[in-house]
Amino acid sequence: MNVMAKVLVANWKMRPRTEREAFALARASDHPQVIICPPFPFLPGVRRLLRHAALGAQDVFWGSEGAHTGEVSPAQLRALGVRYVLVGHSERRALGETDAVIAKKLRAAHDAGLVPILCVGEDKAERRAGDAKRAVLRELQVVPRGVRLIVAYEPVWAIGTGVTDRPEDTSQMASVIRHRLKNSALPVLYGGSLDAHHARAFLEQSDISGVLVGGASLNARMFHTIIRIGMQYE
Ligand code: PGA
Repeated sequence: MNVMAKVLVANWKMRPRTEREAFALARASDHPQVIICPPFPFLPGVRRLLRHAALGAQDVFWGSEGAHTGEVSPAQLRALGVRYVLVGHSERRALGETDAVIAKKLRAAHDAGLVPILCVGEDKAERRAGDAKRAVLRELQVVPRGVRLIVAYEPVWAIGTGVTDRPEDTSQMASVIRHRLKNSALPVLYGGSLDAHHARAFLEQSDISGVLVGGASLNARMFHTIIRIGMQYE
């Protein structure tokens, strides 16, 4: 992937229902700037048909092997051709994933050669109280030294709600994140109700390195439009 090009992540979450639908969607989204994160069962099949896009997983365990029922190791993902992995998505934090677990997952993913995409973002109450930056900085405390990663800024109140952040506010937050992690070249993405109508306003901001798309990535035409917009900017 061209480091300067915008990164377009498709987070399918627990969709689509069938492998057939997954393959059709993967074919339609197969572009060099795209990282496709399907549910685990679709990873091998999607991998086989991708020519350009990179493969990501939606979660990973921190242990390398052993008696961990239901978990998937970083090495197992690597062996499937996975290169990226979402870590700390707010939907997983809502199920009880803690900062300590997220820190271990970041380290384990990195050590196995995966690039973690760490999801951070304040909730509605924090935003209202003017605490968005503080909340994000707190979530960044878990990043272990020397781990190469991508950060996705996804305000919790914007995910799946139809309401997006303001691109200028995301731009500012991206600078705060880079400053905190002392890495001016860190890719920082925006996620949260991003669709074809809002994509340009985010992607044209030079501080925003790309987007993490949930719902709209399940709509092949909509995602194709987002890819076309993404191709116009660096
Ligand atoms: P959404 O999801 O685009 O459907 O809001 C984004 C995400 O949860 O990563």
